[in-house]
Amino acid sequence: MLASAVERLDAADVGSPRMNAEMLLMFVLGADRAYLYAHPERELTAEEAARYEEVLAQRATGMPSQYITGHQEFWGLDFVVSRAVLIPRPETEHLVEAVLELARGIERPKLVDVGTGSGCVALALAHELPDAEVHAVDLSAEALEIARANAVRLQLEKRVRFLQCNVLDPVFDKSVSVIPSEDFSPSRGIYFAKFRDFDFVVSNPPYVALSEADKVQKSVQEFEPTMAVFAGLHGTDVIGPLTEQAHRALKPGGWLALEIGYSMRDDVVNLLSPTMWDDVRVMPDLQGIPRVVAAKKKAISPSHGSAVL
Ligand SMILES: C[S@@+](CC[C@H](N)C(=O)[O-])C[C@H]1O[C@@H](n2cnc3c(N)ncnc32)[C@H](O)[C@@H]1O
Repeated sequence: MLASAVERLDAADVGSPRMNAEMLLMFVLGADRAYLYAHPERELTAEEAARYEEVLAQRATGMPSQYITGHQEFWGLDFVVSRAVLIPRPETEHLVEAVLELARGIERPKLVDVGTGSGCVALALAHELPDAEVHAVDLSAEALEIARANAVRLQLEKRVRFLQCNVLDPVFDKSVSVIPSEDFSPSRGIYFAKFRDFDFVVSNPPYVALSEADKVQKSVQEFEPTMAVFAGLHGTDVIGPLTEQAHRALKPGGWLALEIGYSMRDDVVNLLSPTMWDDVRVMPDLQGIPRVVAAKKKAISPSHGSAVL
């Protein structure tokens, strides 16, 4: 069974066909790799064989295995994923690391994760920073459902507040731009009053330029949510407003931390005007590619000589 599955995935151009065939078999059997190797004589029931056939057919279309199994590990935690959310990537763990490093010594840091998707960044930070106040926003209601489900599974639902909105619009108190949701309509005013003075605005925003869509892996183009990947013709449709709005949302001395795409370093650094931001840092990933940009909101406005609000 395994041997023919490997051949089939190989013929469909699926990378690492053996690993994929084994992983999907483990998923169907609810077993681990040790079980597979310890029981080569095990035959599949008709039901198991039909289910294996179904998932192999899905994988052969190029669908990422995480959308088939419904799971992806991030920061050592198990996240459920669906096609409403981006599959959490290992390189995004650099963003979590950078924030943890910057948060050292800050008591009860107040954070917001913009474009939370599966909730992986917000929930990893809530997990690591037990005294932090964590907020998470996304424009997609479907993504927020997954993020909330992950919060419950990780027993962090009392630690993270989720809100559906466009970038950081609530900072401007424009209730009109917030999509009403049952969680927030009754106490919206109170909630918005709290939606400022953050120590951290954290985000892995969509940043791929539509003009570069053909350079994106086929499986990403076909299966991952467009709004999680692409951000306008030049890739800055979210990062642009985000850097501006984050400045308003942060307290003086607060940090903006962003994951950036390959080759975006200069464009993003240029958005961070030296009159508004200090201490701009660019952190590389394990391959040496600039992956995270962090900048500190200036405490004093040079033009007014007073705190920037
Ligand atoms: C690259 S994904 C990141 C998801 C998750 N934080 C992660 O790192 O895996 C970007 C997320 O931003 C959300 N998004 C896109 N445009 C947005 C906007 N204008 N306002 C808020 N969220 C947005 C998408 O729905 C998606 O969940």
